[in-house]
Amino acid sequence: MIEIFPDAEALMRGAAELFVEQAQRALPVRGRFCVALSGGSTPKRAYELLAGEPYCSRIDWSRVHLFWGDERCVPPKDARSNYGMTRAALLDHVPIPAGNVHRVRGELRPADAAEEYEKILNQFFGSGPTQFDLAFLGLGADGHTASLFPAAPVLHERVRRAAEVHVAELDMWRVTLTAPVLNAAAVVAFLVSGSDKSDVLRQVIFGPREPERLPAQLVQPTAGETRWLVDRAAASRLPASFRASGSKL
Ligand code: 6PG
Repeated sequence: MIEIFPDAEALMRGAAELFVEQAQRALPVRGRFCVALSGGSTPKRAYELLAGEPYCSRIDWSRVHLFWGDERCVPPKDARSNYGMTRAALLDHVPIPAGNVHRVRGELRPADAAEEYEKILNQFFGSGPTQFDLAFLGLGADGHTASLFPAAPVLHERVRRAAEVHVAELDMWRVTLTAPVLNAAAVVAFLVSGSDKSDVLRQVIFGPREPERLPAQLVQPTAGETRWLVDRAAASRLPASFRASGSKL
């Protein structure tokens, strides 16, 4: 489903509302709400909104478990840290138990950080599917999502739940969830904002399937659903027929 919001702030409110809705669906059934958070700049405002009303008090934070779809291999206090961004925007402002925050230790050697995160995922999800109730994802202008970058060997990883990735174009190491984990999620929600994403958004959704070039196309949940929450600027190159049909399809 694609939902077009009038602007970035409305998109962020939509993302916060989706988080609350999915939490209220999962908690009665599963007794916990497991989320893989996205990094980058787009979701920060959504996390800030979740730390306030009317969202925060609608969530039983004691039963929320937060993971990250990917992390940069830097210490938490580094401005590039996805965990550091989330701590400042959300974690420092909500009553989530420390033990429910399952971060990638970006300060470790990449391979050690990935190995430790894999162990955390294995301990938490056991041998069954790594089923997140919700996975927020972003979309890079090059078609990447999480740290699944074009032509990267990790695109073909089907066994490991998490892996270290060297991103040559950024000269940076990262740890990422792998495609099978993202595809085991109950709901995957891409948050896409800004005109700089308009071309890649159209290619990913409406273009030919080329996951090596557009890794976001690898995300096709096996049993779950994919939602695209986009603002009007990002949607500006979607087929006119689609845009004219209204904001939800
Ligand atoms: C990261 C993200 C990455 C991000 C996209 C979009 O760690 O950077 O996981 O996949 O979602 O690069 O980034 P922006 O939201 O900053 O445009």
